[in-house]
Amino acid sequence: MRISWETLWNDIHTCERCGLHAGCTQKVPGQGDVHAPLMLIGEGPGEQEDRQGLAFVGPAGQLLTKMLDAIQLPRDRVYICNVVKCRPPRNRQPSPEEMQACIGHLRAQVALVRPRVIVLLGATAVSAVLGPDLRITRCRGQWFEKKGVSILATYHPSALLRDPAKKRDAWTDLKRVRDRLKELDLYSDLYKEDEA
Ligand code: URA
Repeated sequence: MRISWETLWNDIHTCERCGLHAGCTQKVPGQGDVHAPLMLIGEGPGEQEDRQGLAFVGPAGQLLTKMLDAIQLPRDRVYICNVVKCRPPRNRQPSPEEMQACIGHLRAQVALVRPRVIVLLGATAVSAVLGPDLRITRCRGQWFEKKGVSILATYHPSALLRDPAKKRDAWTDLKRVRDRLKELDLYSDLYKEDEA
């Protein structure tokens, strides 16, 4: 049985399943269109996210907004969340145990949103959703199918800020996402003019 958003919100906000809760200002569950055909999954909240309680609102988030704009998707038409809902100290990568402790929340979000397409942003999301043996450098840009959902990994926007040379590959990946959304006839109100 699917839990409700209300129960999930309560579970996240009261969660003490790992040590991260002790060091964060507030939980960052995620936000956006709860019926979005496209879901984006990042790693975990950074400083700005921890302060505001919203996912991807810092520098990486600003770049993410531009990336979505580039494929004609307004941010409020997608659902955005992270693998872990509490900010890891000094923005370190969450440990496998911390990811494991939080994975139920992410699974519940996927079950509630029921996206048709998921984009994994960076290595932590790849590890949590596709498995720890996959490397982002090798699997990015490829489609994976899981329980009827098309899943594609690309670089995390923070990686693009650190290394702009990666932007070229990220753009290729984004165009693949746009093409798949069109193929599946998703966001047809946004993409219909392209066909005219
Ligand atoms: N990086 C992430 O992975 N998620 C955020 O919400 C912000 C930065």
